[in-house]
Amino acid sequence: MNEHTPKFPTQGLENAEFEPVNPTSNPTMGELISRRFSRRGFLKGSLATTAIAATVSPLALLTAEKAHAQTGSVFSFAEVEAGVDADHHVAEGYDADVLIRWGDPVTNDAPEFDPTAQTPQAQAGQFGYNNDYVGYVPLEGSSEHGLLLVNHEYTNAHLMFPGLVTVTDGEAQQGPLSEDQVNIEIMAHGGSIIEIEKVDGKWQRVAGSPYNRRITGETEMEITGPVAGHDRLKTSTDDTGTMVRGTLNNCAGGTTPWGTYLMAEENFHGYFAGELPEGHRESENYARLAAPGGWYEWHNFHDRFDVSKEPNEMNRFGWIVEVDPMDASFMPKKRTALGRFKHEGAESVVAPDGRVVLYSGDDERFDYVYKFVTAGTFNADDRAANMGLLDEGTLYVARFDEDGSMEWLPLTFGEGPLTEDNGFESQADVLIETRRASDLLGATPMDRPEDIEPNATNGRVYVMLTNNTAREEANAANPRIDNAFGHIVEIHEEGGDFAATAGTWEILLQCGDPEIAEVGATFSTETSENGWFGMPDNCAVDADGRLWVSTDGNSLAATGRTDGLWAVDTDGEARGTSKLFYRVPVGAEMCGPLPTPDLATMFVAVQHPADGGEDWDGHGRPSYYEDLSTRWPDFRDDMPVRPSVVAITKQGGGKIGTA
Ligand code: FEO
Ligand code: CA
Ligand code: CA
Repeated sequence: MNEHTPKFPTQGLENAEFEPVNPTSNPTMGELISRRFSRRGFLKGSLATTAIAATVSPLALLTAEKAHAQTGSVFSFAEVEAGVDADHHVAEGYDADVLIRWGDPVTNDAPEFDPTAQTPQAQAGQFGYNNDYVGYVPLEGSSEHGLLLVNHEYTNAHLMFPGLVTVTDGEAQQGPLSEDQVNIEIMAHGGSIIEIEKVDGKWQRVAGSPYNRRITGETEMEITGPVAGHDRLKTSTDDTGTMVRGTLNNCAGGTTPWGTYLMAEENFHGYFAGELPEGHRESENYARLAAPGGWYEWHNFHDRFDVSKEPNEMNRFGWIVEVDPMDASFMPKKRTALGRFKHEGAESVVAPDGRVVLYSGDDERFDYVYKFVTAGTFNADDRAANMGLLDEGTLYVARFDEDGSMEWLPLTFGEGPLTEDNGFESQADVLIETRRASDLLGATPMDRPEDIEPNATNGRVYVMLTNNTAREEANAANPRIDNAFGHIVEIHEEGGDFAATAGTWEILLQCGDPEIAEVGATFSTETSENGWFGMPDNCAVDADGRLWVSTDGNSLAATGRTDGLWAVDTDGEARGTSKLFYRVPVGAEMCGPLPTPDLATMFVAVQHPADGGEDWDGHGRPSYYEDLSTRWPDFRDDMPVRPSVVAITKQGGGKIGTA
């Protein structure tokens, strides 16, 4: 049972308000909460005081004082005006050029896109739908020639297929999908690897490249690490529990220090339907994941998506997938040591002792923040030596304490409550049911952890928390009840060591309109009316250590603005100052963002444009294939709206984010 009542099954899917599924009440200590609320009430009326006093802990204040010696913003561009319309907009003096669109050929034998005659075979070689994560692997160290890595998170059938939606008396209805349409959807998932090159200051795709590759919901991949071969992963088509077809709902991701591509499987539960046999072993496991979600129609044609017929198939999703983009024949690996949950992303950094640390959020209301520390160390001189690093190490979940300290709790079989008494017989069980194991450890339930990005220059880590309107009880790191606009937590790893098992934390920003005192937003007073945002989702820390935040969920109704990319100061007097650099067309979400190492380009992914538009007077009615709220980026009557990756460069060249 959920509250998701869209016009079309996949409309606004990512921000649908499903019932939270975390049954625990870990840190909701009554004493702490009542103290916080009484403080909030006491201070109400003085916006600045309320915001700071309610969210910054004493320990964090000390850390903040030390870090804030710098003055002035590290950004100097003229910001974009916030608003809503059919086009995208970038800061003055910049170009925003579409690099690749849904349907553009990726593999060298793929046909040109014909939206009225699309086939699964064509889609299997063409750029997929709903681009999300964007990564870049330089070729020969170049910031002007490399491999673009792009996730295709999910599909919106009502925007993709002609003739699917009918409108009767103003009511839109989506008809059932054909087998071909379902198979097109499966092929439009996964990822793309594309060789790109900057020629005369403009990015272009390299035709005929041996690197060009599509990974889809059908690509064969191997399951590796502690869970490989476990009985709970065996199915009627794979009695080894080591091989699986496809990767699904690849949201954000990561690029490892050795240049492999990590694809995070987020809302995998949505593709499965049906009911488990009575009393089945996986009932509790699936319930904790709100699974099966039944968002798609794939089970009508493929038994593996029906849990009544293939009860273990879903255990083969929810992992981090590693792909070597340098080898187009590489079989992707699902790295089970990193745990199984609704992985938002997997950005990594090398710790001082050479171990590699990967951060990952579990995007669900009241779920957790994780990191994985490899057992082995990174070998910068031997790329091949790093290929098994992600199969061995320790997975940790975060507990954020009231005094501004924090602890990373190891998810290790046999330690603490993770024993047979609680139904775990091995590390594989702990990893298959990562959420339940974290519940038992007392992890802190968060307001939808999305992208998490380490800042290699200073030992800090930025955690995007999108929102949580179901929060009725605050905890220290999630201080707002009914948190409609989200916030950003900044972690300071102990001693600047990313592999540390403890640290401190503070809140960088509480988001929302700072003009409305009740919202409790904490943007600096230097932030303009265009500069504030809600719903932080993806982020990037660039080579200069500057933070960029992209959003998911802004709209005319929610904030009077579309989603976009904001530049956020994290240091000195400018800390908490935010400026709008780029905004997306109506209905879209802002994904990516990815600055090149030379800081001359910012790649961004415009996801699900035209998914919505009812509340915008430029459209004002349901948006679907035949009647779209925008036909970005082609604006052609014979071409539907197309999610696309955009390259942003400064006119005449130079560093992004500067005037
Ligand atoms: Fe796919 Fe949590 O965003
Ligand atoms: Ca996201
Ligand atoms: Ca999102």
